[in-house]
Amino acid sequence: MSETLSRLTGNKSEIYQSLLPQIEALIGDEQDAIANMANISAALKEAFNFFWVGFYIVKNDELVLGPFQGPIACTRIQKGKGVCGAAWLKTEAIIVADVDAFPGHIACSSISKSEIVVPLIKNNVVVGVLDVDSEYLNHFDHTDLEHLTKLCQWFSEKL
Ligand code: SME
Repeated sequence: MSETLSRLTGNKSEIYQSLLPQIEALIGDEQDAIANMANISAALKEAFNFFWVGFYIVKNDELVLGPFQGPIACTRIQKGKGVCGAAWLKTEAIIVADVDAFPGHIACSSISKSEIVVPLIKNNVVVGVLDVDSEYLNHFDHTDLEHLTKLCQWFSEKL
């Protein structure tokens, strides 16, 4: 396992295209979900310097904070609440260009301005979400959606 990421330059799409195979190699045949979520969070943080990036895991019908990179965050989110709970309820990814315009957005930090949440779906059931926050408005687009969805689909199969 390589312990450094390489060639994380270029435009956003190019960085994702370089990063995702490196994440797959980094995780390899490791089965521990927490360890893998920790390294995925760290790799995304290193590649893009997102304000906050991490996982919430479904436990007893709640989302519970998992491995992340960034400032401290709220620990539990109910189904349907906030962007994370909405992505869980709808079983679909959500991009929020302006968190203040999203009804029910859960503000763990006032610095966060936009957000993307991608569900982890295993056997047609949401088992967690990947949440990425930016300090910039309108930071996430179809490129993030495409590549983070691909990452989450690949990772969900390992859970
Ligand atoms: N903003 C999220 C809560 C999690 S934090 O952003 C880390 C939400 O509305 O679900």
